[in-house]
Amino acid sequence: MTVRAFAPGRVNLIGEHTDYNDGLCLPFAIAAGVTVTVEAGDDAVLTARALDLGEEDAFGVAEPAPAAGWRAFVRGTAAELARAGHPPRGGTLTIAGDVPRGGGLSSSAALGVALALALLAHAGRPAPGRRELARLCSRVENDWVGARSGLLDQLAALFGREDHAVRLDLRSLDVAPVPLRLGGWRLVTVDSGVRRDHAASGYNERRAECEAACRMLGVGSLRDVDAAGAAGLPAPLDRRARHVLEENERVERAVAALGRGDLPELGRLLDASHASLRDLYEVSVPAVEDAVARLKAAGAAGARVVGGGFGGSVLALFEPGAAPPAGALEVTPGPGARLLEGGA
Ligand code: GLA
Repeated sequence: MTVRAFAPGRVNLIGEHTDYNDGLCLPFAIAAGVTVTVEAGDDAVLTARALDLGEEDAFGVAEPAPAAGWRAFVRGTAAELARAGHPPRGGTLTIAGDVPRGGGLSSSAALGVALALALLAHAGRPAPGRRELARLCSRVENDWVGARSGLLDQLAALFGREDHAVRLDLRSLDVAPVPLRLGGWRLVTVDSGVRRDHAASGYNERRAECEAACRMLGVGSLRDVDAAGAAGLPAPLDRRARHVLEENERVERAVAALGRGDLPELGRLLDASHASLRDLYEVSVPAVEDAVARLKAAGAAGARVVGGGFGGSVLALFEPGAAPPAGALEVTPGPGARLLEGGA
């Protein structure tokens, strides 16, 4: 029997570098994603093909050894599923995707989630709850791929819903769909052209800075810090903490703005988020600034870097009738991860 699973990439509307600080995010799943197909074969060996790369891997499912790149996702997912009590079955697995890799649209979480769903279905196992699955996929990224990413991308892929963004509270793991009625306005992304490698970028340094700020303030996470507490930290930790506090507030303001259909306000919030990511969190780079400037010059109501930063994509909001620059990719909120074929 053939099993096929799809998981989407995501755009985070607002709430950046808040997920690993127990904060708030407002992502939506996009149409582009990763499809994983598994067919029966040798039950003990998983043979995996990455179609876009023309590469192959094969390993004993009982004991996957560490590997690098896309292979780390496949082996790590098999291993973490087994550890969680869902031992996978061998067979032939193919991966195909259309999310630009390293472009800040979370091709990696799409890959991880699609792999987990496909391998579970291939083994005839019901998928665990979506929060548990998100955590499992995140362990694969943390422990097998070596990227200390948070839960934003996996939750966005798993909870995505057509015509909606989702408000994520990373402390309570509360997920609330928020209607994203654009009424003729358009959201687009522009690739800055700078590829970011999660593991090697300044992302881990920012996480370490947030942890240092928490240690100094004696709190478990930056969610517990107020403006006065943030202001008392030494530089640059004061700037990092202030970004996180104000970005959480911007998520709430964005949810409220969407509720009343106030898209000009959403645009202003995107601009404010970008300014904070550039000046306080310092995750922008010249190519990203060029892309933001191009989008603003074309009349964007708001534009900001999305994802971890240090390259990747810029998101912009255009009012009806305004023309995004050439090369901009329109993004609309689509459904979340799902089985396309086969399964129990
Ligand atoms: C990357 C990570 C996410 C999140 C964002 C920043 O996309 O994978 O977990 O931390 O950066 O908001």
